[in-house]
Amino acid sequence: MQFTQQEMNQLAAASTSSSRENLYAGIHKALRAMMTDTLLAVGRADPSDPQDVADASGRVIGLMDLCEAHVQHENSFVHPAIEARTPGVCGEVAQDHVAHLHHIQRLRAAAQQLPGLDDPLQAGALHALYLELSLFVADNLQHMHVEETRHNAALWSAYTDAELRAIHDALVATIPPSEMMQVMRWMLPQMHALERLQVLGGMRQGAPAPVFQAVLDVVQPHLSPRDWAKLTQGLGLPAVPGLVAAV
Ligand SMILES: [Fe+2]
Repeated sequence: MQFTQQEMNQLAAASTSSSRENLYAGIHKALRAMMTDTLLAVGRADPSDPQDVADASGRVIGLMDLCEAHVQHENSFVHPAIEARTPGVCGEVAQDHVAHLHHIQRLRAAAQQLPGLDDPLQAGALHALYLELSLFVADNLQHMHVEETRHNAALWSAYTDAELRAIHDALVATIPPSEMMQVMRWMLPQMHALERLQVLGGMRQGAPAPVFQAVLDVVQPHLSPRDWAKLTQGLGLPAVPGLVAAV
């Protein structure tokens, strides 16, 4: 992909503006992780093993559900904000979203049909799904890059951080708990330690203790021992759950 000088400038601006409120960075890390991990899982799935086929089907359907919800969130909250103060910026990305929703429908239907196919067709259908998903992932990687450069440049030029946080909070308030837990599972392990601590530190202030603990329980298996130690130290928690109670 060739970038224009203007787009390279936007990329540089995005790279040096990391102190600004970033509506895209966290959720896009989650989506990149979930997309690529799902793609690799479909590639590994054994077509002669019904459990593998069912798991691959379920993984793709789950990914499509989250991607569809993500498009709706951006369409409902982020694009109106951008168009309100920098009209015309969203045109290309909005067209991408229409295409993505069609692609999502096709991939979801293919994944749903997979487990019910006759055995001789499983291998071919599984590989076709793998190839089609790879194009969806490739398209989304480029799409998210445009959003994190061009769209962030527009948002940062037109909104204060407090206004961007208000947009973020309004969007997050519409996310159901099951979707939020799924996002946490994919987002938090893929953030760097300081981002992870910031998100969980904020969540600890606002969420009931059992919910906060449930998020920690979902995330811990996906963190390295070093990252888990940094997190527990930053939060002032024992590195081994239950240690305080046992003392
Ligand atoms: Fe998008």
